[in-house]
Amino acid sequence: MHPQLQRELWFLLFYCALAAAAGYLFDLSVLFISVVLFSYIIFTFKNISRLHQWLLKREQTQLPDSKGYWGEIFHQLYIMEKTINKNKDALNKTIRRFQEATSALPDAMIILNKDKHIDWSNKAAESLVGIRYPQDANQAISNLFRNPAFMRYLNKKDYSRELHIASPEHPAKKLSVQIIPYVKKQLLIICRDISHINKLEEMRSNFVANASHELRSPITVISGYLETIKDNPPTDPEKLTKITKTMYNQSKRMERLVSDLLSLSKLETRPTDQHDNVVEIAALLTAIKESATLLSGDKQQQITLDIKSDTNLRGNYEELYSLFSNLVNNAVRYTPDKGEILISWEVTDGQGLFSVKDTGTGIPQQHIPHLTERFYRVNVDRSRATGGTGLGLAIVKHILERHDGRLNIVSELNVGSTFSCIFPETRLIKEGNPQQDS
Ligand SMILES: Nc1ncnc2c1ncn2[C@@H]1O[C@H](COP(=O)(O)OP(=O)(O)OP(=O)(O)O)[C@@H](O)[C@H]1O
Ligand SMILES: [Mg+2]
Repeated sequence: MHPQLQRELWFLLFYCALAAAAGYLFDLSVLFISVVLFSYIIFTFKNISRLHQWLLKREQTQLPDSKGYWGEIFHQLYIMEKTINKNKDALNKTIRRFQEATSALPDAMIILNKDKHIDWSNKAAESLVGIRYPQDANQAISNLFRNPAFMRYLNKKDYSRELHIASPEHPAKKLSVQIIPYVKKQLLIICRDISHINKLEEMRSNFVANASHELRSPITVISGYLETIKDNPPTDPEKLTKITKTMYNQSKRMERLVSDLLSLSKLETRPTDQHDNVVEIAALLTAIKESATLLSGDKQQQITLDIKSDTNLRGNYEELYSLFSNLVNNAVRYTPDKGEILISWEVTDGQGLFSVKDTGTGIPQQHIPHLTERFYRVNVDRSRATGGTGLGLAIVKHILERHDGRLNIVSELNVGSTFSCIFPETRLIKEGNPQQDS
């Protein structure tokens, strides 16, 4: 027995004894004891009623106070209430944190009860699937996620594979839907936006198709000629020279294509740990100008090199050579005879600016945003005729990214183009002080 209850009983006995003794004087012992017991019953009922009142309005009223055993009961209830409130706060905090985490998730999450009605969903479910919580709580999922393939998947009960469908909210978006059954026949639906993966897959298959197509053309030419020679060897040396020259050009084209593809693949996969060397711009551009003059041949183009700053670049020599020579070679190839090409290097607003300006064919505006895509050519036949593979500017873009730079293209049809590479201050090194940024 609880000591407080023992004390309470002893007190009651003591008062009863006292009442019996006092009643004995008047020969009214039973009455006196009855008064004591009755008072105690009233006291007990009063406390029961106060407890009941408090239980009914726990949130608004304070716990009553009392003496003796009832005081102990109220005190224990007070401790219990305090612990419950503390646990409630901790639980609320956890729930809030969970809700914050799930609303930050880019994937939609929907919980269904055993009747396939919505129990809960996160914020992403609204944008991806159009299910809002709490507005759509208790609604049947079939009323809101109206997609026959999804309903078949849901009812099939085999959730080992993911389902790929268009988003009911944005049909252009592709969703990967995965259902995970868990306790009490509830289901967790996770929808992930996989549009970017789809796009990558599409790009990959386009790339393979384009690369195969580009390689097939020279192979077809070479094998066609070989077949002709095999069946009917030409006796005319002039004809033979022409055939071998064409075959040689085509094989060179294939070689360029494969080497460009290899360069691209290296640029995409190799780490950029060799990108902090000092690259002397004047020497690099002089070498590029010389090879451009050779490429220009008898086109009588006027190629000018203007180095306005002695600032150098921090980077990788081979890559920067490839970057600048791609742009200069394009200028040579897409500028007609007697045209002008100006190669320049300067530092403006603290940024390094390399540019190639030509008086060439120019590029229609609608093509400019696509020029750095692999195999993209404004005029396929013309580019092929000049030996182009359509990979040059894709390589340029990658190299620039690896050097924190960006490409700017300004062009006017039949007037000319300017391709500029802009390098941030962090990539610049002042001549004579290679360790210090300019
Ligand atoms: N300076 C320029 N003037 C006019 N058109 C250009 C110029 N530079 C690039 N282009 C256009 O942009 C297209 C893409 O250029 P890119 O360098 O990527 O490929 P390419 O020159 O055809 O082949 P590659 O450089 O791989 O041998 C070219 O086919 C051409 O139509
Ligand atoms: Mg090119």
